Amino acid sequence: MSINQFAYAVVESTDIEKWRFFGSQIIGLAEESAEDGALYLKADGRRYRILVVPGARDGLYAAGWETASEEQYLASRESLVRAGVEIVESTPLDRHLRCVTGLFSFVDPSGNRQEVTWGPISDFAPFVSPVGVERFVTGPMGMGHVVLPSMKFEETKQFWTDVCGFQLSDMLHVQLSPEYRARIHFMHCNPRQHSLALAEMPQPSGCVHIMMEVPGLDDVGRALDRIARHKVPLAATLGRHVNDDMVSFYVWTPGGFALEFGCGGMVVDWENDHTVFETTRGSHWGHQWAAPPAS
Ligand SMILES: [Fe+2]
Repeated sequence: MSINQFAYAVVESTDIEKWRFFGSQIIGLAEESAEDGALYLKADGRRYRILVVPGARDGLYAAGWETASEEQYLASRESLVRAGVEIVESTPLDRHLRCVTGLFSFVDPSGNRQEVTWGPISDFAPFVSPVGVERFVTGPMGMGHVVLPSMKFEETKQFWTDVCGFQLSDMLHVQLSPEYRARIHFMHCNPRQHSLALAEMPQPSGCVHIMMEVPGLDDVGRALDRIARHKVPLAATLGRHVNDDMVSFYVWTPGGFALEFGCGGMVVDWENDHTVFETTRGSHWGHQWAAPPAS
């Protein structure tokens, strides 16, 4: 299976306007209304990187994974079918809203909905941030990364590596309480240090966090200024991660999960420059976590 990037996130929302404000005024994405009351949040030449659809709950609806070609897309579907995974074909409306040529979906062993695509459709209009963010680091490394809850940890990890073709980057094992040692395993499908992580922790919103990257520290600092100005609750303070070296903070989205916003994420030459390792803490410094706001 040849997924080569985390291309987009589909978010379900009971209040699209909260996402419009959060996406444009806090994160700095360009917003555009889409059909059926949906919302595109644009970060680069693509039409969108976050698609917000109206729904009965707040959370991640699906992670969108891209393949390089129709051949790779069909090969991906074949791998999943061979592994006994139920494939859900898309409708023309699904493909139209997502701006892709081909699309199917499936659910991973921990119950997380995934979409696989080929042939993104775009007018390649340049990204212009409404609050002056220089640009987001995307391109062939995708929109960033996504961390998904995985309570069937072993089975789900094996599925993503053996069936979906991801490779392990590193493992974080944290003692959250005397009885509970959580595992977070990070995986890659391109030079970004991780595009996917599986976290052994329940998460009703269907997502632990998504990450978006900017090129420099000043854009991270300016985002923190906007968050302070608009009194948006932080999920974690500024810090530097051990595994991908990223300097980032986390902010609560209107979707009940966090968005990591950072710079300096590691780009890895997997053939020549990597050994899979295990860490016992996630950050060199910072990243003090706060509880989600009461809704
Ligand atoms: Fe992250």
